[in-house]
Amino acid sequence: MKTLITNIGELTTNAPTPEHAEGGGDLRGTLHDAAVLIDGDRIAWVGPAADAPDADETVDAEGRALIPGFVDSHSHLVFGGDRAAEFEARMQGQKYAAGGIRSTVAATRAATDEELRIRLRGFLDEMLAQGTTTVEIKSGYGLDVATEERLVRLAAEVTPEVTFLGAHVVPAEYADRGDDYVELVTGEMLDACAPHAKWIDVFCETGAFTVPQSRRVLEAGIARGLQPRVHASQLGPGEGVRLAVELGAASIDHGTYLTDDDVTALAGSETVLTLLPGVEFSTRQPYPDARRLIDADVTVAIACDTNPGSSFTSSMPFCIAVAVRDMRMTVAEAIHAATAGGAAALRRTDIGRIAPGMRADLVLLKSQSRVHLAYRPGVPLVDAVWKDGVRAV
Ligand code: NIG
Ligand code: FE
Repeated sequence: MKTLITNIGELTTNAPTPEHAEGGGDLRGTLHDAAVLIDGDRIAWVGPAADAPDADETVDAEGRALIPGFVDSHSHLVFGGDRAAEFEARMQGQKYAAGGIRSTVAATRAATDEELRIRLRGFLDEMLAQGTTTVEIKSGYGLDVATEERLVRLAAEVTPEVTFLGAHVVPAEYADRGDDYVELVTGEMLDACAPHAKWIDVFCETGAFTVPQSRRVLEAGIARGLQPRVHASQLGPGEGVRLAVELGAASIDHGTYLTDDDVTALAGSETVLTLLPGVEFSTRQPYPDARRLIDADVTVAIACDTNPGSSFTSSMPFCIAVAVRDMRMTVAEAIHAATAGGAAALRRTDIGRIAPGMRADLVLLKSQSRVHLAYRPGVPLVDAVWKDGVRAV
């Protein structure tokens, strides 16, 4: 089955145009009056609408903008309950602290698989409607062997990008015995969870896990064939970023408080810095300066970090708008970070760009310009979504 989307007013391919190599064009690979041919689950052809090949069906984009599907490389979607009261108190001045995670752990342990599954699928539906076609999902609200195993298993039902985050925080029953808990995470819990996961993650932060504990967790995961990614420098500066770079992590996420040494280490590395604008928005923390990172040649991604504590948005357009408004990114940079950047943070080469051979994950906007994603915050701007070549919205 071949579908041609034609009459695209503004196509963001993320594939640098040939003119770019000659000093013209643009790095985002923007084409006007363009068309995209989908064949099965892949993109077969991209070019000027006037040269488009034949297809079984044609969709007229009527001059609107088409972008790659968003790659949301950081979420915590399997949990019970919510923390609306905590958010309300925070808006009245209370500080965000890692300890709030424990209240979600209690609600998650009490939930059945079916309750968690229905909730999870609801979040995925709302994400798809907002243009997200790939999502990474972490465990981390179980913190015992049986519940962590349930969370990674449920996540694996809906995405290949599953992250085992048993080292999210030390659970109440291990209070003051953090090293014993790390023993459990790197032993029995890892044994139970590794078969369902691709990634290993740790919250390397004051109030969560120390640098030596984080290293133990990541190295144990690597030894089991999982690939590392790290939550770090969210609540204050620390050594988590450099640990992540040293271990070849695909991404370090948050980076709210980065030192110059962190930026230098990231710039010379394969590790992506994943910005989570919803977190600073919802916790009233200072926004990190994306300009400083981009100007230093650090690869950046934008993700929602959907979770009941620090960022309960599932909207990539909202995160793009905040990143542009408060992190000093251009709109084109923010969209690139939310698509190609997310793909890099997941080490995926089949998504995040619109080019022949890539997965046909596409978002048609209601507007003629991608700028509306930041210019019209909070407004539903997604007209249609294709996931693996299938019209999903
Ligand atoms: O990514 N930083 C640690 N974990 C989550 C927050 C979890 C929570 O507060 O429930 C995050 O922000
Ligand atoms: Fe997170």
